[in-house]
Amino acid sequence: MLYWDESLATGIAVVDEDHRGLFGLIKVIDDAKNSDVFGDKVCAAIEALNDYAHDHFRREEALMLLSGYIARTRHEDEHKSFSITMKRLLQLYQVSPNLVSISGVVVYLTDWLRGHIAYSDQAYVNSMRECGQLIDIASQNLLNNIDLNF
Ligand SMILES: [Fe+2]
Ligand SMILES: [Fe+2]
Repeated sequence: MLYWDESLATGIAVVDEDHRGLFGLIKVIDDAKNSDVFGDKVCAAIEALNDYAHDHFRREEALMLLSGYIARTRHEDEHKSFSITMKRLLQLYQVSPNLVSISGVVVYLTDWLRGHIAYSDQAYVNSMRECGQLIDIASQNLLNNIDLNF
């Protein structure tokens, strides 16, 4: 499924808003593949997703640090590994677009994001809830700095 839904909610405003945005950008990649003769739209859409994922990971990592989440390093490694995969994918697509199935990429991205949110992101929720108001305030401040116009 290409959309965020309530089953993925963490209850942390900035995180849920980011996750909605990430699914929205995967949909942009999916839409671009149908109308893209030269590959420019797909490249731009993948770059936009990379940029937004980078920002989201930094916000999430700041909240994990603030809450003292014990498995933060392992979680950050998952973010890093995803970013490396995406960078390589973009490079490959720019050089040899015919070697990359964008439909396959969309399936990979959707599966990765759903799995990561459902298991790795949900795993820090209790730790953040224990911090109560501190995380609420930080989350709200981060949310105020997000540019949601993409
Ligand atoms: Fe994460
Ligand atoms: Fe996340």
